[in-house]
Order: sequence, then C-alpha cells, then structure tokens
Amino acid sequence: MKVNGVHYRSIWREDQAGGAVKIIDQTRLPHEFVIVELGTLEDAARAIETMQVRGAPLIGATAAYGIALALAHDPSDEALEAAAARLRRTRPTAINLNWAIDEMLAAIRNRPREIRIEEAFAKAADICDQDVETNRRIGEHGLTLIRDIAAAKPGQTVNILTHCNAGWIATVDWGTALAPIYMAHDADIPVHVWVDETRPRNQGAALTAWELGQHGVPHTIIADNSGGHLMQHGKVDLCIVGTDRTTAQGDVANKIGTYLKALAARDNDVPFYVALPSSTIDWTVRDGIAEIPIEERAATEVTHITGRSGDGQIVTVQVSAPGSPAANHAFDVTPARLVTGLVTERGICPASAEGLLSLFPERKG
Ligand code: MRU
Repeated sequence: MKVNGVHYRSIWREDQAGGAVKIIDQTRLPHEFVIVELGTLEDAARAIETMQVRGAPLIGATAAYGIALALAHDPSDEALEAAAARLRRTRPTAINLNWAIDEMLAAIRNRPREIRIEEAFAKAADICDQDVETNRRIGEHGLTLIRDIAAAKPGQTVNILTHCNAGWIATVDWGTALAPIYMAHDADIPVHVWVDETRPRNQGAALTAWELGQHGVPHTIIADNSGGHLMQHGKVDLCIVGTDRTTAQGDVANKIGTYLKALAARDNDVPFYVALPSSTIDWTVRDGIAEIPIEERAATEVTHITGRSGDGQIVTVQVSAPGSPAANHAFDVTPARLVTGLVTERGICPASAEGLLSLFPERKG
C-alpha cells in the first residue's frame, strides 16, 4: 500500500544481492515515518519484542528474515537452531511466528552450508510474497461480504467496525481485515470504518487510522467502549477483525477487547467476521480459551500513554493514579460460536472444525 503516494511493503530487502532488511518502525507511527535497518538476528528479535514490527503475519515474516540474518553471520546447524529458539521466545500468542520459523527450518536444515545463506534469504522473500498473495485473496473473498451489504442498502454507506490493526502494516501488504475494505473502497463502494482506538497500545488510533487515511478511506476513531452503543443504534453493518491464532475448532485469539465486540455484535445481530491467512490456524489446539497462551505485557502500557504534545514532541505521560497496580493482558479469545465466519485465502467458512476442514481438507484425519 502507499505512504504519501509511494508504494511500500512493511518489510523488504533493499537489494536482493545482499542488501539490508528494512522495516517501518511502527512504534513511531503515526507521528513519524521512520525506516529501520535489521542487520542481525538480535535486531530482528528486538524489533518483534519491542513491537517495531507487530501483527501476526509480519511477526512471522520478520522472524524468517531473522533466521536468514543469523545464517549470514554463521551458517552452522547450531546457529540455525539457536536463532529459531531465540525468535520463538519473542512473543507468545501469534502462531505465525512458529509457522514461519518452521518453514525456514524445513527449507534450510540438511542443506549444504555454502548455499544456506542464499537459500534462507530466498525463502524469507518467498514467505513475504506468499503473504501478499494470500492477503489479496482474503481481500477478494471479504469483498463479497461488503458487496452484499452494499447491495441491500443501495446508495448508502456500509459501516464497518474493526479492532486493533489488521491492515497492511500488520502483514507484508494489503492486511487481512482491512484488505476487503481497501478493495471495496477502490471499487467505489461507499465504506466508512469505525476504528476502535484499542487501548492500551492504541494500534487502532495510531496505525489503522493512519493506514486508512493514507489510502483515503473514510473512518472515525472511537473509544473502545463505543462499539456496543453504535451497534444498538444500527450504525454498524459489519464487524471484521484479524486474529493472532485461530484454533482447529474456530476459536479466535485477537487483541484484547475483541471478545467484547463479538458479544455486542451477537446481541445486536451484527455479522462478526474474522479474516486470517491459513498460517494463523493452529491445527494442534481446539479450545482457544484453555490452550492459547495469552501475552501479558508491561503494566506501564496501561498506566502511561504516549503521543505528540502541542509543541510537536513525542511524550509519554502517566494517566493512572500513582502507585496503583495495573494488569495488561494483550489478547483475548472469542469463542467460535460468536464468529459469523472466517475469511481465508481459500474462501469464507463457518467458524467450526467442519467449516475449516471444508476449506482445508488436507488437514482431515
Ligand atoms: O499486539 P499486536 O499489535 O501484534 O496485535 C495485533 C493483532 O491483534 C492483530 O489484530 C492480529 O495480529 C491480526 S494482524 C493481521
């Protein structure tokens, strides 16, 4: 997608013949657009931990390049396994991290040392290209949902609510939940997006709103608690969110607060869809509430808030009562029963074991 008219991916290699890996530092958005170079495994691991890169698919893509960078320094088996172990420890909930690391290991283990570096960078680039194509397909399938709603209210705007950031900067390009919205906008379907601010890190207010603004998609930032009220008053036609891990029975882990939106959507008969690449499905788990590890982050993300002051400085201020403890669970699980459907690169299915297996029959048995 474009930033000030220039096309970017969220991660790229400057030059295929040995250039640096580059990312957009998402901790600086929306106030500053800063490109950062990843030169080592440790740079990649830290970028994931500090959330310079975030969003399940992009975490996976960055880990893939992290392994390539580690091999560029030392192409031994020991270095490969150590890099995989280091990267697996960076963030616990998004399964795309493990998926991408496993893809890299399968491609590189047992390969001769002399060609490992080249093959690792090629595999990482391939994971990125695959992600872009997957998201494009998710966009096309999701677009049918928006088209149907638009057809049922001719001449009127389709209002879509989203939570957190599942846009192009959460992936390599296009996004998951936002891909159908970009395509609808490009197809001249009138859309408007309610953007949950998504406390505590404000990925909605900072990132989703920035992305949508760059692409010219009409949107309004709302406090996280507003969604239920808007749904009660008929102001939301569709909810669509991303996910960090979806279980084999269709339970969905996503940014904290997603579950409450799904509850409000169910109570108000608003369709609630989750968009995901198949690399986000963890086929080894069924009960998301019991089995998905939920990341707990620093309490300061709740007690403090960062933004731009009137004089243009980026500042962090405390919003809580001094001394009060805070808890910061980064994700929650929305049970499959509250999800209207899953939008994948292979199509849309019910959020159930049967639904997922109808699209991914190779997983049967
Ligand atoms: O903590 P984050 O910002 O990495 O969380 C991101 C989300 O929860 C997204 O909604 C999810 O990864 C889907 S991204 C396509």
